[in-house]
Amino acid sequence: MSGEPPVILTCAQPTNQLTLGNYLGAIRNWAQMIEGHTCYFGLVDLHAITSDYTPAELRKNTFDCAAQYLACGLDPERSHIFVQSHVTGHTELAWVLGCITPIGDLQRMTQFKEKAAKLGFSVSDQENELKFAHEGARAQASVNSGLLFYPVLMAADILLYNADVVPTGDDQKQHLELCRDLAKRFNHRYSDTFTIPEPAISKSASRIMSLQEPTKKMSKSDPDPLASIYIIDNPKLIRKKIMSAVTDSGSEIRAANDKPGVTNLMTILGAISGESTDAIEQRFIGKGYGDFKVEVAESVVELLSPIQERYHAYCADKTYVNGVLKAGAEAAQKRAYKTLGKVYRKAGFIERIR
Ligand code: TYM
Repeated sequence: MSGEPPVILTCAQPTNQLTLGNYLGAIRNWAQMIEGHTCYFGLVDLHAITSDYTPAELRKNTFDCAAQYLACGLDPERSHIFVQSHVTGHTELAWVLGCITPIGDLQRMTQFKEKAAKLGFSVSDQENELKFAHEGARAQASVNSGLLFYPVLMAADILLYNADVVPTGDDQKQHLELCRDLAKRFNHRYSDTFTIPEPAISKSASRIMSLQEPTKKMSKSDPDPLASIYIIDNPKLIRKKIMSAVTDSGSEIRAANDKPGVTNLMTILGAISGESTDAIEQRFIGKGYGDFKVEVAESVVELLSPIQERYHAYCADKTYVNGVLKAGAEAAQKRAYKTLGKVYRKAGFIERIR
C-alpha cells in the first residue's frame, strides 16, 4: 500500500441527526482534508447499537446522516463514504484485537465510565470493577458488553484501513490512544502489520459544549431538547435554542473558566467567523448577552442554511445517496479484505481453499 497519498479514516455514529458540534469539531475539517489524502468516511451503525435504539430509527438516521455528510461537503467523487455494516472485516478484526486487549484498559475508558454511570453503575478506579452506584440501578438496564468493547471496534475501524491520520473532536483522544497501543501490540506480537495512526484533533472547536449544561459536551443523544443544535434544525428553532442557552452570572462577554456558557457561545461564534476570542471580547465591550446571542444565532443560521438546502435535495434523491454508499462500500471492502487477509495469516488461521 505504498506510493499512495496518506490515508484518512474517520467516522460518526448515526445515533441521531448530526449536531453543530459534529460539524464544527469534525466534519467541516474532514471536508478540508480531502485534498491530498485518500479518505474513508464511515457511518458506524454497529457502534450505534451499543446504546438504546429502535431499528426503524437507526435505518432512518443512517440514511439521513449519509445525506448530511454530503451536504456538509464530503465529496463522494474524491472520498469514500460507507456504512460500517456494509463492509466485512470491522467486527472480525475487532475480535482479533479484543484477544490482545486487557479488560482493565477498557474499564478505564472515560466514555465507558460515563455511559455506565448514566445507567446507574460506577467503575471503581482501584478495582476496575463494575458496581451498582445505588440500589435503584439494579432495576435499570444492564451495561451491555458492546459498550465495554466499543473502543476495540473503533480501533478495528481505523486499523482495517491502515489509516495514517484520524481527524476527530477532542472527546475521541483516549480511544485513539488505545487504538495506537493495540496496533503496536499487534505489530510486536505478530510482526509489522499496522500503520500507527496519528490523531488530528481540530484546533478551533474541538469540544462544543451543551447549551444547557455547558460543562458537558454537546451530544446527539442528549434528552434535553434545548441542549444540542442539530444541523438540520430550522432557523426558528436554532434562534430559540441559542437565545435560551445558559449564560453565566455577570454581564460581560468574556471567555473564562467561571463563564462556561458564554465561553462556549464565543467558541461557536469564533469557529464560524474565524475571529479570535480577543477580537470577539473587544467587539462586545459594553454590550449585553442579548446582542451577543442574537449575533451567535444569526451566524449559526447563516452557516447551516446552505447545508440544509443541500440536505433536503439529497433526501429527495435516494437513488443518488444509495449509489454513493454502494460505491463507498465497494472501495472500503477492497481495502478491508487486504488488511483482514494479512491479519488472519499472521494470526495463524489457515487459508480457505476456493
Ligand atoms: P461521534 O459520532 O460521537 O462524533 C463524530 C465526530 O464528531 C466529534 N464530536 C465533537 N466535536 C466537537 N464538539 C462536540 N460536542 C462533538 N461531539 C462529537 C467527534 O469527536 C467525532 O470526531 N466513537 C466515535 C465514532 C467512531 C470513530 C471510529 C471515529 C467509531 N469508529 C473510527 C474515528 C475513527 C463517535 O462516537 O463519534
